[in-house]
Amino acid sequence: MKAAMTQGFGFNSKLVIKEVMRPKIRSNEVLVDVYASSVNPKDWKLNLPIFSLTPKFFNASKSMIFGDDLAGKIVEVGEDVTNFKIGDCVYGMSMHFRTGSCADFATIPQHCISLKPNNLNFSQAAAVPLAGLTALQGLNMADVGKDSNVLIIGASGGVGCFAVQIAKAMGARVTAVCSARNTQLVTALGADNVIDYTQRDYIHEQHDFDVVLDATSFQSLFSCSSLLKDNGIFVSTVGYASSILKLLFSKFRPGKQLAKYTQVKANPSDLVTLTQYIQDGYITPVIDEQYPLEDIEQSYKHSRSGRASGKIVINVK
Ligand SMILES: NC(=O)c1ccc[n+]([C@@H]2O[C@H](COP(=O)([O-])OP(=O)(O)OC[C@H]3O[C@@H](n4cnc5c(N)ncnc54)[C@H](OP(=O)(O)O)[C@@H]3O)[C@@H](O)[C@H]2O)c1
Repeated sequence: MKAAMTQGFGFNSKLVIKEVMRPKIRSNEVLVDVYASSVNPKDWKLNLPIFSLTPKFFNASKSMIFGDDLAGKIVEVGEDVTNFKIGDCVYGMSMHFRTGSCADFATIPQHCISLKPNNLNFSQAAAVPLAGLTALQGLNMADVGKDSNVLIIGASGGVGCFAVQIAKAMGARVTAVCSARNTQLVTALGADNVIDYTQRDYIHEQHDFDVVLDATSFQSLFSCSSLLKDNGIFVSTVGYASSILKLLFSKFRPGKQLAKYTQVKANPSDLVTLTQYIQDGYITPVIDEQYPLEDIEQSYKHSRSGRASGKIVINVK
């Protein structure tokens, strides 16, 4: 089968399309004929030199195939698979180092997938799992609900676009932070207020948000403290080593404000919740650009630019 593999780690590593063996399923896994995948910053961050030893601890050949999110059709089921059958159209992401979904076929455990929302095509569905689950789980851990006053930083990114829509679906009042070029987008997604971070030093303003969800991973409870009310909750997507350090230090910060972080989990009930939101019309995946598998290098450059508005999709078929 065709697969997008990484050759080496670090800044000189290359993405190449190779012919490799079709992966074999384990008893609790399904084999998916992959129609589409999508790019997440995690994908290229895992190619940094610091992770060069990790394939040795995982399934080495699989972890060199790029891609976490997948949408496609099941062509084989393991003997312990009870929830799915051959022919089911599914979407999801695994908890492996990489799912290996930028390939014609990928294996994935049954608890990491759900039936594809019936109102999305495969490309749209592939945009959802990792970013959508991160947004949902981040908002859930801060108990966002009806009338919560929520600030979403990085509202125009992959995670942010889902967070705005999910928070609105939960009944929250949403203020979105983005640059001017994305104001229209986040307003269309339902944001009640928009802050242009290029024009306003909002981070030092006094506000009374119940929750600040930082989907850029640049901020911390220290920098966002004045935005939150006294018992407010700061949630980070901790995308960088520095954000993990800031989070650890903020645990020792006096006061009632809390700092939390999302580490996305392939939780089947959360995927079903996302499916429901999508089918009920609360969430529509925002796709910035679609690339064929052959142009995967460009798709990763696009993601590395940090300027994606919504998701970047890779069409495998
Ligand atoms: N821990 C986890 O499980 C987990 C899961 C998913 C993601 N993450 C991390 O979360 C972060 C976001 O992921 P993503 O997929 O949403 O990334 P993304 O799609 O690449 O985010 C790009 C967006 O961020 C916006 N942005 C950049 N700088 C900003 C700033 N200073 N203020 C407000 N918006 C800004 C950009 O808008 P402009 O172009 O207008 O600036 C762009 O729309 C990454 O670091 C990722 O690694 C962690």
